[in-house]
Amino acid sequence: MKILLAGATGLIGNAVAQAAMRRGFEVMAVGFNRKPDLPPPHKSYQIDLRDPLALERLVFDHFPDVIINAAAYSSQRLMQGQDELLVHALNVGFPARLAQLAHHISARFYHFSTDMVFSGKHAPYRTTDLPHPNTEYGRLKLESEREVLKYGANEATVLRITLTNGNSPGGNRSFHERLFNRLMAGETPVFYTEEIRQPGLADNIGDLVTELCERPNLHGIFHWAGAEALNAYEMAACVLKHFGLPENLIKKAKCADEPAQRVGDLSLILQPLASKVKTQPPTFEQQLETLQVSESCRAWFEKNSSKKAPPKRFVKGVDF
Ligand SMILES: NC(=O)c1ccc[n+]([C@@H]2O[C@H](COP(=O)([O-])OP(=O)(O)OC[C@H]3O[C@@H](n4cnc5c(N)ncnc54)[C@H](OP(=O)(O)O)[C@@H]3O)[C@@H](O)[C@H]2O)c1
Repeated sequence: MKILLAGATGLIGNAVAQAAMRRGFEVMAVGFNRKPDLPPPHKSYQIDLRDPLALERLVFDHFPDVIINAAAYSSQRLMQGQDELLVHALNVGFPARLAQLAHHISARFYHFSTDMVFSGKHAPYRTTDLPHPNTEYGRLKLESEREVLKYGANEATVLRITLTNGNSPGGNRSFHERLFNRLMAGETPVFYTEEIRQPGLADNIGDLVTELCERPNLHGIFHWAGAEALNAYEMAACVLKHFGLPENLIKKAKCADEPAQRVGDLSLILQPLASKVKTQPPTFEQQLETLQVSESCRAWFEKNSSKKAPPKRFVKGVDF
């Protein structure tokens, strides 16, 4: 099976690339500022996917069986300070065009969305619940879902995922990596007890998407996450404990202290997907076991932790 993967240098795209290679698929991986470096017969490209001609060339040159889109400004924080039109072009215009191209060549299309399409007031959310985003990021992701599903209801799938744990190629995208980077910069990060998320794991999402590639009868909107919902303070405290770092490096706060911070409870109901697939949502403990300390944090970590850093997993041929 030939897979065109956009966003292959990101936290989730990299995990999808590795899962797809493990499963024996042929991967055409696309990055933008960084070039994915997959071993032959896989192919790597560096393309601005907002360029419609470059996108068309890529799709028509390869005629993939499956297209997976993990490219985006992937959080409200990463959208901040960027040109609004360019953000819209990547988060809405590009997936809409890609879905249209996928429909045109009868390729199946998988697009990632977010729990942040919901308001946080009526959790846990089913796929059929009415979205009501609180942030511009959530609004754009919702717009992208609607655009993507316009083209080929039988070919397109939107996977709404949640705050994601894992090891990103740049060591700066996942929850524990961002926490360590902030601590290393001398910050005392504040976490809110009423901010509830159901964290997932990038490698597990990679396994799920590649399983779905072989299950064309499963399409539409699905929710995917980990097995448990936790509040943001609990999550950070569990990460610190797991890595042998003191809990007093972070602060606990209530949303009432700062109402602008409120995202509420964004936990998701994973049915009907969870009962139809072999891949299962990992517990938070299982997620913690897979986390590494990035190279850029290693010296800081060794100075501050009571534990040794877990050994780095080396994936042959995938070198960022
Ligand atoms: N991470 C989470 O916690 C989370 C939670 C919910 C939903 N999601 C969704 O999951 C998807 C993947 O998120 P992620 O966290 O893996 O993202 P990420 O780590 O920030 O990676 C973003 C990817 O997009 C690529 N990209 C950026 N601008 C591009 C452009 N103009 N042309 C081509 N590629 C471009 C980046 O390439 P370069 O790095 O090479 O520039 C990178 O590969 C997104 O749709 C996001 O909204 C993520």
